[in-house]
Amino acid sequence: MALALDKPRAPRRPAARRGNFEMISWIFMRVSGLALVVLVLGHLLIMNILDGGVHRINFAFVAGRWSSPFWQVWDLLMLWLAEIHGGNGLRTVINDYARKDSTRFWLKIMLYVSMVLILFLGTYVIFTFDATIPTTH
Ligand code: HEM
Repeated sequence: MALALDKPRAPRRPAARRGNFEMISWIFMRVSGLALVVLVLGHLLIMNILDGGVHRINFAFVAGRWSSPFWQVWDLLMLWLAEIHGGNGLRTVINDYARKDSTRFWLKIMLYVSMVLILFLGTYVIFTFDATIPTTH
């Protein structure tokens, strides 16, 4: 009597209907990573190394920088790219490591909520920052 062996592979599951999302997110990680090299290294040099570095940072310094649309756009880009790059990277880590569906689901909900909060708060501060606000000293 012939032995009945299982087929070597389980029947394929139908491809997930998610369009090109994973490919776009793969490309986004590379493109945003390149942009972040310039944005983050520039930020690090200006804020922490050049011309007295961190010792010269105070309210007036920040107010001076944010009076320029160039630095507002710089900081806005850095905020959005780092948050979405880091968030999308963490989404991959969660997908790779969370074993239970419910753990994966709730970790991702917490991640997305934190991303929306931080993006909202950061964007709100950059656009509503008031350099004339009275300071205590
Ligand atoms: C400074 C320039 C940066 C470059 C060139 C860069 C590049 C990359 C690339 C190419 C990936 C994808 C790796 C893969 O698909 O296997 C990645 C993943 C990741 N990045 Fe960045 N990145 C940068 C900055 C950042 C920043 C500022 C953050 C945090 C806010 C961050 C957080 C992450 C995380 C959490 C992952 C996922 C790691 C993983 O899958 O194991 N990266 N990065």
